[in-house]
Amino acid sequence: MIRIALLPGDGIGPEVVAAAVEVLGAVCRSHGFDVATHTLDLGAERYLRTGETLPEGDFVRLRDDFDAILFGALGDPRVPTNVHARDILLGLRQRLDLYVNLRPVALWHESLCPLKGRVAGSIDMAVVRENTESLYVGIGGTFKPGTPDEIAQNVMISTRKGAERLLRFAFGLARQRRGHLVLCDKANAIEAAHGLWRRVLRELAPEFPDVRATTLYADVACMRMVTHPHEFDVVVGDNFVGDILSDLAAALVGGLGLAPSASTHPGRVGLYEPVHGSAPDIAGTGRANPLAAILSLAMLLRDCGQPGAATDIETACADTVRAGLTTPDLGGTLGTRDVTASVLARIRPRPATPEAAAVPAPNG
Ligand code: NAD
Ligand code: IPM
Ligand code: MN
Repeated sequence: MIRIALLPGDGIGPEVVAAAVEVLGAVCRSHGFDVATHTLDLGAERYLRTGETLPEGDFVRLRDDFDAILFGALGDPRVPTNVHARDILLGLRQRLDLYVNLRPVALWHESLCPLKGRVAGSIDMAVVRENTESLYVGIGGTFKPGTPDEIAQNVMISTRKGAERLLRFAFGLARQRRGHLVLCDKANAIEAAHGLWRRVLRELAPEFPDVRATTLYADVACMRMVTHPHEFDVVVGDNFVGDILSDLAAALVGGLGLAPSASTHPGRVGLYEPVHGSAPDIAGTGRANPLAAILSLAMLLRDCGQPGAATDIETACADTVRAGLTTPDLGGTLGTRDVTASVLARIRPRPATPEAAAVPAPNG
């Protein structure tokens, strides 16, 4: 039994999480495993109603009572401070110490790439973003706000422990992939915080002789991802650089509507979410691409011991896209529900055991 907390959130979040839940039902049936889902009311609506963002009771439940969290998105124009998103999303990442943010992208069809001459399969990279430190630690503030003497400060934190554990994960992942890791940073300008990452990389590299570990300045990495995207395999960045590079990587293969992510820490509840936000510009129109959320569900199921179901979902999504059955962000004319139906149609009901396969189904 996999226990999944659903946090649909704001904007298109509930629309894409509902789509993923339908797909979850289909793979549970076809692969014969059980799940228990429970929806938590966390997001802008609750904040506006009660003033609560992430109450302690909800945090403790999420930490202790579930195997995984499937998250939609947070962000609402009625909450311009974004306080609820910081408390809930960044709060969960930080308080659960989910230090790995894994954001894989792969080009399924040449038409999805905005660059010329890129064929299916030629772009396949995994952004590994540190998820708890850097400019996201919330240290800082303003002094004399609103005056001509105003000072604003956000402190960037890198720790040896944080860099080492993330780099170890990234080295391990590179071993399972094409054996190349590139650390992207601004060590030339941000000497202390990013220089530490380079030193830790050099210290760890001898432990992983089968991995080619390199570095790039993040600005050059942006350029090279556009001009030579096939060169990238495992891309490592701190919380800030990784955030930016992961949207760029997503754009190379079709955009945010196709980009899933997993925020994890071995042995703890994982948080699975599309890379995209709440897309207020299209919320409620039925045009949101559900695939990033559905692919995030696949990552969740793989981590929860259902790799077959995960692969089936990924294949169904890729086949749907290759068949041109897409929402407007990918150039199609379909809505969220049609794309979800197409994914569901590609998840074949399957007998759970070889013995069951030998028994003819009722009515043929
Ligand atoms: P966004 O990702 O919400 O949208 C950027 C653009 O991509 C928009 O044009 C949107 O319509 C489009 N888009 C995004 N997801 C799509 C999908 N599934 N299908 C089709 N089109 C899609 O980013 P934004 O507009 O900068 O931010 C909107 C709000 O979301 C903000 O409040 C922001 O802070 C928040 N946000 C939240 C998360 C998260 O919860 N993980 C991530 C990013 C942004
Ligand atoms: C993401 C988002 C968030 C981040 C925002 C909403 C705070 O952009 O998940 O990539 O910067 O981490
Ligand atoms: Mn982002």
